[in-house]
Amino acid sequence: MFWNNRLAKNADKDAFDLPFRFRRQRKSAAMRDMVRETIVLPQHLVLPIFVAEGITEPEAIESLPGVYRYPENQLGGVVRNAWLAGLRSVLLFGVPNKKDNEGSDTWSEKGLMVRMIKAAKEAVPEMVVITDNCFCSYTTHGHCGVVVGDHVDNDLSLQNLQKQVVIAAEAGADMVAPSAMMDGQVLAIREALDMTGFTDVGILSYASKFASNLYGPFRAAADCDLKGDRKTYQIDPANRRQAIMEALADEEEAADMLMVKPGIMYLDILSELRSQTELPLVAYQVSGEYAMIKAAAEKGIIDEQKIVLETLVSFRRAGADMIISYYAEQACPWLDELNKGEGHDRQQD
Ligand code: PBG
Ligand code: ZN
Repeated sequence: MFWNNRLAKNADKDAFDLPFRFRRQRKSAAMRDMVRETIVLPQHLVLPIFVAEGITEPEAIESLPGVYRYPENQLGGVVRNAWLAGLRSVLLFGVPNKKDNEGSDTWSEKGLMVRMIKAAKEAVPEMVVITDNCFCSYTTHGHCGVVVGDHVDNDLSLQNLQKQVVIAAEAGADMVAPSAMMDGQVLAIREALDMTGFTDVGILSYASKFASNLYGPFRAAADCDLKGDRKTYQIDPANRRQAIMEALADEEEAADMLMVKPGIMYLDILSELRSQTELPLVAYQVSGEYAMIKAAAEKGIIDEQKIVLETLVSFRRAGADMIISYYAEQACPWLDELNKGEGHDRQQD
């Protein structure tokens, strides 16, 4: 583009005769603030919250420093604080005592999922409450569906997901987020919600969810004792085209938002999906990503605040509208500072 010109040194000056100099756009804090292309706001972030049955005090999660499992009666307070910090959405994960082969607690009207949704909506009715719709924390085997013999049965799991989301909608969930990666789950859920009158309850689909090794700390946090792996229902990390097909299939099944998960290692998927759909896109900065940043920060190897902000900006730059992150609340004051711009320390009064 610019480099067709001959590089000439003007005999009278020390400078080369360059046709374009990018540093003209970067020469001052004010100039850098002006040309900044990507903005992250607190309302772009979604906070995942773990609620454990049968505890009375918050429990620290060893693999996720700074993240807690909360007792049910403290969920309201957690949601209020998130709202006051500037967040507009939370994603609820239950850690139940009651487990069975199918995860039947998830479609019980007295189950943990229902109680969490009610408590969150009651605390802050304006908060967008999303539930993670799966079975793995609620099953004895830790799989995301019904186990029959040696496999996870897709269509039996769909029927249970339908029961689960209707119960979640009745409890007041604004959006349901199916994470089981069963084929046809968005269609099955949309039909179940529409047939029961919940046409306004949205679906945030875990559309491109990979069989990643970054979920380890989450499984410890959610008390999921999976033996084996999820390779028959989650996507092979090597498969870019399949991930795009999964997402586009969910769009056809009427998903309202599409997620790519995990985050930073899968920005290529996010970026390509951005060019193939007009739906809002959501990136999930998963537990392993959080844990790696925390561990490096605790060792003094990196600057936690700067690295976290860089990851959040990168998600948005790659095409995410929203970002689910265990850093969501911690990052709110950091974002406020970032969004004042570099020039703000030079303000005169
Ligand atoms: C449950 C679920 C998982 C995560 C979100 N929902 C774990 C899994 O699929 O094994 C991972 C979140 C994280 O690692 O932060 N299906
Ligand atoms: Zn699951």
